[in-house]
Amino acid sequence: MIDFQPLYKQLATTRLHPWKGPLQKQLNTVFADKPHGKQVEWEAVLSELPALKSQYSDFTSDRITVGTKQEISKKEHRQLHQSLKKLQPWRKGPFELFGIVIDTEWHSDWKWNRIKDHIAPLKDKLVLDIGCGNGYHLWRMLGEQTKLTIGVDPSRLFLTQFALTKQLMSEQPPVHLLPLKDEDLPDFNNQGFDTVFSMGVLYHRKSPFEHLQRLKNFLRPDGELVIETLVVEGDKQTVLVPEERYAKMRNVWFLPSVEALKLWLKRLGFVDIKLIHINQTSVEEQRKTEWMDYESLADFLDPNDANLTIEGLPAPLRACLSCRKAS
Ligand SMILES: C[S@@+](CC[C@H](N)C(=O)[O-])C[C@H]1O[C@@H](n2cnc3c(N)ncnc32)[C@H](O)[C@@H]1O
Repeated sequence: MIDFQPLYKQLATTRLHPWKGPLQKQLNTVFADKPHGKQVEWEAVLSELPALKSQYSDFTSDRITVGTKQEISKKEHRQLHQSLKKLQPWRKGPFELFGIVIDTEWHSDWKWNRIKDHIAPLKDKLVLDIGCGNGYHLWRMLGEQTKLTIGVDPSRLFLTQFALTKQLMSEQPPVHLLPLKDEDLPDFNNQGFDTVFSMGVLYHRKSPFEHLQRLKNFLRPDGELVIETLVVEGDKQTVLVPEERYAKMRNVWFLPSVEALKLWLKRLGFVDIKLIHINQTSVEEQRKTEWMDYESLADFLDPNDANLTIEGLPAPLRACLSCRKAS
C-alpha cells in the first residue's frame, strides 16, 4: 500500500489545498475496490526489496539514475535485479538503478528531449501529467526543479514501478503517482496547475473533447497544456477513426490531423496554440528489449511497407502541441 500522507502535506502548502480532502476520499475508494489480480505479487516485490537507499540521483540526464553500483553488494545487486525483473514489462524509460540499466521498450527520453526546450519553464511550478505511465517523465519534470509534480495513471503495475524507484531514494522528493483515471480526479475551481501534460492519451479516449476540456479544468488561468498524440496528415477537417484496430490496439478512437487538433483546442478556448514537433515513430524509438519481450512497433507495421500499420493505415505519426488557458 502506498503512503500518500507526504502528498497531502505538500498539497496543504500550495494553492491546490482545497483538492486534498476530495482526493484523499477518491484514493481511499480506489484502494478499497477489488485489487488487480497481480496486486499481491507486486506489493510483495516492494516489501521484499532489500533495504537499499541512496542519496545519489540524477533526473536531468536521459537515464533516470538512482544509486550507484559501488554502493551495494553483489548479493543486493542480484536481489534488486530479480525484483526489477518481476515487474516486467518495463515500457517507459530508460532507468539505471544501483547500476542496473533498464533498457525499456520506449526511448521516453527522446520524447522529452523533443519538447523540453519549447515549453514554459517548470522551475517552482505545480505540474500534472495525465497518463504518466510508470512516471519516467515525472522524474524528468522534477529534474527541472518543479515545486510539486503529480502523475495520474490507473495502471497498478506502473504505480509499482514508480514506487520501487522512489523507495530507493533516501530523501522523498515532491513527486507522486496517483492510481486514478483523469475522469476520477476531483475538479478545481480555477486554482489549478501551472502546466498540465497529456502525452499518448488523447487517441485512447472515446470523447476527445471531454478529455481536452478536463485538462483545461485542471489548469490555472494562463497555465500551459502540453498535448502529445497520434495524428494523421490532412487539413482541419481530417480525422481518422480506425474501423477496428490501429497498430493492433483495440482502444484507438480518434486520430486528428495537426490542423484539426488545433481547431479542437481553439473551439475549447485555448490560446497561443503551437506545434512543437511532429515525427513518425521509428523502430529504434519503440522496440522489444530484454525488459519488454512482448511484441513492439516492428510487429505492428506492414512487413513490406514501414509507412503503413499492419491494418494498412498510416504508420504512427506523433505530434506535440502547446497552448494556454486564456486568462
Ligand atoms: C501510451 S501511454 C503514454 C505514457 C506516457 N505519457 C508517455 O507519453 O510515454 C498511455 C497511458 O495512459 C494511461 N491511461 C489510459 N487511460 C487513462 C485515463 N483515463 N486517465 C489517465 N491515464 C490513462 C495508460 O495506463 C497508459 O499508461
